[in-house]
Amino acid sequence: MIQSLNGSGRRILTYPDVHPCDDIAPNTLLELLISLAYDICYYKTEFFPTNNRNAKEVIRQIGVILVFLEEVRERDSDLPDSAGLCFSELLLAFQKIRYLLEDCTSEGSRLCMLMKSDRVANQFRVLMRAISTALDVLPLGLIDPMDEINSHVELVIRQARKKKFELDPNDKRVKETLVSVWNGFENGIIPDKDSIKRVLDYLGIRSWSMCNKEMKFLDSEIGLVTMSSSDEKNELGGLCSLMGFVCYARCVVFDIVDGETSRQSENNPGNWVLANLNPDDFRCPISLEIMVDPVTIETGHTYDRSSILKWFGTGKSICPKTGTKLTNPELLVPNLVMRKLIQQYCSENGIPSPETGRRNRHVKGEILVGCLAAEKAMKMVTQFLSCILANGTKKEKNKASYEIRILAKTSNFNRSCLVEAGVVPKLLKLLLSTDSWTQENAIAALLNLSKHSGSKTAIVENWGLEYIVDVLKHGVKMEARQHAAGTLFYLASVEEYRILIGDNPEVIPALLELIKDGTNRAKKNSLVAIFGLLMHHGNHWRVLASGVVPLLVNLLASSDREDLITDSLAILATLAEKIDGTVAILQHGDLDSIVKALNSSTSRVGKEYCVSLLLALCTNGGKDVVAVLVKNPTLMGYLYSLLTDGTSRAIKKASALIRILHEYCEKRSSGSMAHVLPQERSIHVW
Ligand SMILES: *[C@@H]1O[C@H](CO)[C@@H](O)[C@H](O)[C@H]1NC(C)=O
Ligand SMILES: *[C@@H]1O[C@H](CO)[C@@H](O)[C@H](O)[C@H]1NC(C)=O
Ligand SMILES: *[C@@H]1O[C@H](CO)[C@@H](O)[C@H](O)[C@H]1NC(C)=O
Ligand SMILES: *[C@@H]1O[C@H](CO)[C@@H](O)[C@H](O)[C@H]1NC(C)=O
Repeated sequence: MIQSLNGSGRRILTYPDVHPCDDIAPNTLLELLISLAYDICYYKTEFFPTNNRNAKEVIRQIGVILVFLEEVRERDSDLPDSAGLCFSELLLAFQKIRYLLEDCTSEGSRLCMLMKSDRVANQFRVLMRAISTALDVLPLGLIDPMDEINSHVELVIRQARKKKFELDPNDKRVKETLVSVWNGFENGIIPDKDSIKRVLDYLGIRSWSMCNKEMKFLDSEIGLVTMSSSDEKNELGGLCSLMGFVCYARCVVFDIVDGETSRQSENNPGNWVLANLNPDDFRCPISLEIMVDPVTIETGHTYDRSSILKWFGTGKSICPKTGTKLTNPELLVPNLVMRKLIQQYCSENGIPSPETGRRNRHVKGEILVGCLAAEKAMKMVTQFLSCILANGTKKEKNKASYEIRILAKTSNFNRSCLVEAGVVPKLLKLLLSTDSWTQENAIAALLNLSKHSGSKTAIVENWGLEYIVDVLKHGVKMEARQHAAGTLFYLASVEEYRILIGDNPEVIPALLELIKDGTNRAKKNSLVAIFGLLMHHGNHWRVLASGVVPLLVNLLASSDREDLITDSLAILATLAEKIDGTVAILQHGDLDSIVKALNSSTSRVGKEYCVSLLLALCTNGGKDVVAVLVKNPTLMGYLYSLLTDGTSRAIKKASALIRILHEYCEKRSSGSMAHVLPQERSIHVW
């Protein structure tokens, strides 16, 4: 949103509240006026893409007034109070003019200013009228009894009145070309490149990066207009059409990606993968609400516990999604992975987590419904890019893959256009490229495309898994490998693909390698990918057999990245729920360092996983584990503090653990060691 505001934090064509300066002495006002007039005159040499003549004429007239004002100053006499009224009116007008000139020359808003060029012309006219009116009331006789400069002022007044400040005929013509292009979009007519070039040339938009600036600006304008409730909304259609135009132009007209943005590495903070999940995946298929306590039933489908219980309560013992008759409807397995994703998603998107606030209908989604022209333009753009990927030169393909990469980031609608245009199989082929930049673009594009369900299918159906695994293992750059891991994470959100990915014997070892040697981002992506794979119970042994446990235990001890620690704890907690997982963890990790993680982990989610892990270890590991934990001098303290500030789930787990530890001590002192482990166990055995 910030980009839409210019340097001074103001939206284009709006004026901040400028207050009339009632109490300021006329001589002070005069100084202010002179300095403002100088500011305005500096614009004389600027390039005005639109309203050029009007702007230049206004600057010229202000220049004439400036001469007059300086003469008044030179007389160095006390100005009559009645001059103050005129001066403060002038001041208002000058300030607005300066803002207007700033808008006319600002980069990024050129297309917008073209569309509004008649409004701008009108503003110039209104402001110059205001100036001549203000000058009219100037008590000239009092300022200059000798009448020397009066004629000067009268000249200005006359000129300001006379000039019409009309819409510049060139602006008008170019605007018409622009509108005809987007009308063409609506009717599916591929625009002629020359018309587009004419518009861009006229506005001085001469490079890819300038085009990109226009897009960014439009994007934020669209955001602002969408948020506003007023009649601004009817500008939306025009803005969307402009967006379609400029996007098409950027992709089709410029061959070279220039500017700092082009090769900039992506450096979004921590949990970008999670932040971009489709929130619909978190809704219970029955209640359509974000799930509070997701549980998986026999068929592998996940529902919110309360909804599925209600469903069973009505006497139906079939899976609502598949209709399969259930042999054991009581079997509800908590889906920890899903819970974690929901919590992270909620906390990162500022949505109150379902645990704290129950109603979550307003999940941030794509509010935007673009207009027809923009949609059609997007379809043409994607068709065009798809053709280039098929038939372009190496260089063209490279550029197209970059365009696709940045388009794939923007919205699900754009992703669906790309998928429909058939870019997925072509991008997969590009993964074989030895050019690191092309390969990276292609896999980055696939990563974000794979948020769209259609492209998940397209990837898998075109043997994409193999290509992606190949990049995961041998990608030219670390970034490419990291994106490959991220892509697998998204693919793993589909149960069927989770199985498929797990079946590929190369995937998990390759992910492990990244956890071992990758950058933090690569580690992160690999961790969440493994976590995603664990959603399928059949992958449990595979993950375990890969030797992930010592790696994670090591990471816990050595990393200072909170997000990596939390992810590791989450995986370990999930693994520990089965006996063989517990055994592996006990073999490689020492309990004291896990207890330490409970203290040092700063996130509540991390603590929750840590206590889940400890509890699962006790439940599955039996009294040997309990005996060690009882001796730890700090654990009890941590557990009690969790009772006051943990998540509700952490509180439950912490109290269960406390109970186990207490019981153990009591039994030990009373000599009986039987049955240390209480009911908790039953819910963990799948
Ligand atoms: C690529 O070129 C061939 C032959 O010139 C053509 O038949 C094919 O349709 C083109 N493919 C695309 C996607 O434009
Ligand atoms: C994917 O899209 C998100 C925004 O939707 C962006 O922040 C991220 O950088 C993109 N990833 C890649 C690898 O381009
Ligand atoms: C992609 O789509 C959204 C709306 O669906 C739009 O706001 C965005 O600007 C589009 N295009 C590009 C090139 O970013
Ligand atoms: C527990 O954490 C706090 C702050 O995070 C730290 O000051 C303290 O030393 C830790 N305790 C132990 C025993 O490590």
